[in-house]
Amino acid sequence: MKEKTLETEVWKRTRYGGELRSEDIGKEVTLTGWVQRVRDIGSLVFVDLRDRSGLIQLVADQETPGILEEAKKLRSEYVIQIRGQVRRRQEEAINTQLPTGEVEVKIEHLKVLNTSRIPPFVISDPPQATEELRFKYRYLDLRRPSMQRNLILRHRAALETRNFLSEKGFLEIETPFLTKSTPEGARDYLVPSRIHHGKFYALPQSPQLFKQILMISGFDRYFQIVRCFRDEDLRADRQPEFTQIDIEMSFATREDIYELIEELMDRLFYLKGEKINRPFIRLTYAEAIEKYGSDKPDLRDPVAIEDLTSVAAELGSEIISSVLEKGGVLKGLLVKGGGSFSRSRLDKLQEEAKTMGAGGLIWIKKAEGNLKSTLKIPAEKLKLLWSRMAAEESDLVLMVASARETAVKVLGEFRKNFIQENINQGKISKMTRAFCWVTDFPLFEWSEEEQKIVSMHHPFTSPNPADLDYLETDPFKVKALAYDLVLNGYEVGGGSIRIHQPELQAKIFKILGLTPEQAEEKFGFFLEALTYGAPPHGGIALGFDRLVMLLCGEDSIREVIPFPKTTSALCLMTNSPSPVDPRQLEELGLEIKKK
Ligand code: AMO
Repeated sequence: MKEKTLETEVWKRTRYGGELRSEDIGKEVTLTGWVQRVRDIGSLVFVDLRDRSGLIQLVADQETPGILEEAKKLRSEYVIQIRGQVRRRQEEAINTQLPTGEVEVKIEHLKVLNTSRIPPFVISDPPQATEELRFKYRYLDLRRPSMQRNLILRHRAALETRNFLSEKGFLEIETPFLTKSTPEGARDYLVPSRIHHGKFYALPQSPQLFKQILMISGFDRYFQIVRCFRDEDLRADRQPEFTQIDIEMSFATREDIYELIEELMDRLFYLKGEKINRPFIRLTYAEAIEKYGSDKPDLRDPVAIEDLTSVAAELGSEIISSVLEKGGVLKGLLVKGGGSFSRSRLDKLQEEAKTMGAGGLIWIKKAEGNLKSTLKIPAEKLKLLWSRMAAEESDLVLMVASARETAVKVLGEFRKNFIQENINQGKISKMTRAFCWVTDFPLFEWSEEEQKIVSMHHPFTSPNPADLDYLETDPFKVKALAYDLVLNGYEVGGGSIRIHQPELQAKIFKILGLTPEQAEEKFGFFLEALTYGAPPHGGIALGFDRLVMLLCGEDSIREVIPFPKTTSALCLMTNSPSPVDPRQLEELGLEIKKK
């Protein structure tokens, strides 16, 4: 009985309020939504009604005294439905900031569907609460127009991706969440087995092995918009569970992948009406490190680190010469407009350079027409450096003489910070899109933490066939057929051509320090699968949250994930992780060790 009453109480909505425009003037509409704000000026009451499309102003006046009285009782976040007529606002009340700002709806019928307690924070943009409070009451935070816009764009981006990849002949195929560890360099989230005590599933860090197996199964072109799980230290662009656009293709070359992904980016950014520049710039890993001190360079500013080693010896500086003798280099960075940096700012940079391992930081700038520098060398030598760096009157030149890695790291870090500063000051637009491919990564690197050789991407990445001879003699010299997609300094994707020969795969496991028994135990099923006619294949995974974050112009992926975790991996809304019932532990055969 009750249900029936409820049903008749809800009127059929005819429009989203936030979509009403001047073309709708004169129309009768039925709207539903939440009360954003009530302004009671006695004979008139204005109500801002919010739904997922935005805000619309409602009015009640003395022509309908009953409704005027009811409207006066409305409070923020009450859920209401109204019927009324769209009309033009009074000239002086037109709000050009609001898409619906030319119109309002005169309330002819009003019904309160539900009341609300006073919310713990005002629901408006920009947010007026700490992130902690926003996450605790995420359902209220998500009512903010910007969160609604972000999640709507996220939906459209996922839909566009599905449509685009389907058009290109890719099939969306699901892979398991309860699985065996696939190494991507992070810790696994483990799920204990109730039936097999002492055994665990691992939540996938990525569907890497399954997508390769799907190629062996002959599906040829696979994709999945898929959740991945990694227990790693969190940052603004990292979450413990995140979403990838995961892609794999048989008989593909690197060029095929570049072409496909560039076209996909074209389609995704067009959702915002943006035309991106293609083809994307390509940099080898070595070039990226050398010129930008980073394997994910922000190319919104073209300035690059310059190598000054060839002129360094003739400068007549003892310090620099001794660095060169030890095999070091001299690197320079031009800071446009940096001539105005104060002495204390330069001292601070000096300190930062030292913390990053450099002996010091050399600067040159112009004061009253003369070059001034921390480097005590003759004026004509300073001039040589100044012109080599193509510096102008108001600029600053920063230089580091040290081991190559340190010099590019320090200047790369400064470069990144200066770009951020220019963005904050509006000198570079945040919405400029600077894509690049970083290619030819080393296959292996040395892990200080684990004190062993590790894969730079993952162990299924194919070495460049040209370097195969070095595999056993000098593995660090081997380049991988791997590539990252970088946008504005963010790594938005990574992939590679894979190993499809079982012998080569086994060799890589051996180089990584796995005994044949360990390789068998961990990846035996995969090594075996490779022996049954594995086609050559390759693929990529794009960080969907990062992409959507950049599409939306946000600085954190938490702004485009409906229910994110905090930086300490907590969900403040549900209070997870949380203790479990001792009976459940018993069932799983687990015991908690007291700290
Ligand atoms: P990779 O580990 O580079 O590659 O991951 C692909 C992309 O996923 C995004 N990403 C993340 N986003 C949010 N939070 C995280 N914790 C996080 N970790 C990664 C990044 C990254 O570029 N299987 C391979 C892909 C392949 O080889 O095809 C893989 O997962 O944007």
